[in-house]
Amino acid sequence: MAYYVLFHTKGWMVSLCEGKRDWQMMCDGYRIVKYPASGVSFAALKAALERLGEYLPYTLAEQKIDLDEYARKLANHACVDLVLSADGRVVGIQAYYTNDTVTRKAYATFFSLEPECRGTGIAKRMMRLLMDTAKANGMSVIEGNVAKNNARARALYEGFGFAVTAEASGEKVVMSQRLE
Ligand SMILES: CC(C)(COP(=O)(O)OP(=O)(O)OC[C@H]1O[C@@H](n2cnc3c(N)ncnc32)[C@H](O)[C@@H]1OP(=O)(O)O)[C@@H](O)C(=O)NCCC(=O)NCCS
Repeated sequence: MAYYVLFHTKGWMVSLCEGKRDWQMMCDGYRIVKYPASGVSFAALKAALERLGEYLPYTLAEQKIDLDEYARKLANHACVDLVLSADGRVVGIQAYYTNDTVTRKAYATFFSLEPECRGTGIAKRMMRLLMDTAKANGMSVIEGNVAKNNARARALYEGFGFAVTAEASGEKVVMSQRLE
């Protein structure tokens, strides 16, 4: 399979596979890839959502989210970016909706990395990908709910220009960023 290197910056290589949308970013053996183009199965996605969901301030179970239903909804309607380790494990996921063409508001629904990937710059790469994809899909705003006490996630969002725009239920705030 032929890959074209688009650019090389700060140790990251960005490449595009000929004729497909499965472009990847690689650093230290980690790749950021798009589901489903990554070849990761639905079962593996579901298992990774369950595992990585345990790191959220409120786990999926605590939020009373049905895992099977949630995974299907993401697979069918959301943009899902995966971080794969060199040995093919799913070590990070971010998922966001860019399908509301009326309000043009994108909604970030899931973001979690294994501890081994934190503090490495991968989270920032993923945020950049989220913003670029939302913009490319015609969105004008990105919004997400963040737990008030999740200082690390809030700092990450703030670093990308997000600001608190409202209170949300369950000790969370809405953070938003305009894309235009
Ligand atoms: C949230 C998450 C994806 C962020 O990824 P990360 O790799 O940890 O993020 P970074 O290391 O790039 O840190 C982001 C920012 O927070 C800062 N930060 C790190 N630890 C912090 C802490 N304990 N308190 C406050 N800020 C902190 C960093 O300095 C960085 O800011 P900077 O770019 O200005 O230096 C990751 O921590 C994670 O998966 N957490 C568990 C799941 C979760 O909480 N998901 C978010 C749901 S909204």
